[in-house]
Amino acid sequence: MSHLFEPLTIRAVTLRNRIAVSPMCQYSCEDGLANDWHFVHLGSRAVGGAAIVFCEATAVTPEGRISPEDLGIWSDRHAEALARIVHFIHQQGSLAGIQLAHAGRKASTYRTWSPKQGAIPPAEGGWTNVLAPSAIKFQENYPQPREITRDEIHAVTQAFAAAARRAREAAFDVIEIHAAHGYLVHEFLSPFSNRRTDEFGGSFDNRARIARDTVKAVRAAWPDSQPLFMRISATDWKEGGWDPDQSAALAREVKTLGVDLMDCSSGGVIPGVSIPMGPGYQTKFAEKIRREAGILTGSVGMITDSAQADHIIRTGQADIVLLAREMLRDPYWPLRAARELGHAASWPAQYLRAAPDNSPMREPAAPNREPAKPSA
Ligand SMILES: Cc1cc2nc3c(=O)[nH]c(=O)nc-3n(C[C@H](O)[C@H](O)[C@H](O)COP(=O)(O)O)c2cc1C
Repeated sequence: MSHLFEPLTIRAVTLRNRIAVSPMCQYSCEDGLANDWHFVHLGSRAVGGAAIVFCEATAVTPEGRISPEDLGIWSDRHAEALARIVHFIHQQGSLAGIQLAHAGRKASTYRTWSPKQGAIPPAEGGWTNVLAPSAIKFQENYPQPREITRDEIHAVTQAFAAAARRAREAAFDVIEIHAAHGYLVHEFLSPFSNRRTDEFGGSFDNRARIARDTVKAVRAAWPDSQPLFMRISATDWKEGGWDPDQSAALAREVKTLGVDLMDCSSGGVIPGVSIPMGPGYQTKFAEKIRREAGILTGSVGMITDSAQADHIIRTGQADIVLLAREMLRDPYWPLRAARELGHAASWPAQYLRAAPDNSPMREPAAPNREPAKPSA
């Protein structure tokens, strides 16, 4: 019996299996608005049978975007553009997740495939209001950030809360706070990027303050019935930085504030560290945090194989797996994994003729239905 396909209930929401599409920036928006690319990209992964389809890092303010082409949710218009996609994801039996983000000192940079890299000048769509805990660049060719003031920190946490309200309006099921990969919240957590001497810097308690404040603000704006995840970089992979013990301590704290699951990634706050990459190389962080903080965890990073994913769940190393690049290679990975593990996953009626014998049918989606009105 496969464990990867066991449902999981978090608060009032049930995941049909343990597989999530990891957030992946598409750098394909104008003015932060979702468009047909996002509809097809996210929609096909819902057709593929994942339990949760996460949208990419979605900026809570315009200056919190990594690139000018990032997705955003800083206005109701942004939420409306996403609602159509959420509706389709629901029609496929998946849950819709949104990763709320502020890029901090990594904002205003070229998208990954641009021939130019690093800071993007205003003439090419960049901006100068790049904010960070301390005025330290990520690396030489990156924007020079300005030290964010206390009032601005409060404004950012309120922007996360406003984004959470809009996410609810758009009928998202799960929010993930992005506190990983060297973006704003992680920049506060890590002593490498946080040299502040006020109540947001120095001790663990102070460095973790913005993470706690963000959780509190989002939780107040997000229904009790809905799950809240947090993605962290469990280690900076360098002595003197953020590490797995601090991650477990943070998990214990945010659990009491209403975070349900820690999504355990790593790295990104400083360049040039060596990371021992290999299959499941970050799973040990999910396992440690799950054991030490008594919280649900997600494992991400080079999980590509169905037996490997099933093993992670079966041996209690994590409660869900998140797949990124493998989902780009194969949007129907969950259907493939089900076949390999002998589980009868439901197939869209439209694709049933290609399904293994006796696969249950997913009802066809009514083509012209309007998005359901989200409940209050
Ligand atoms: C194209 C692409 C875009 C990504 N964008 C995001 C993002 O928006 N937010 C995030 O937390 N991680 C992002 N990541 C990291 C992935 O979510 C994931 O953590 C990482 O790729 C490792 O998983 P994998 O080995 O399954 O690809 C991105 C990765 C890729 C390949």
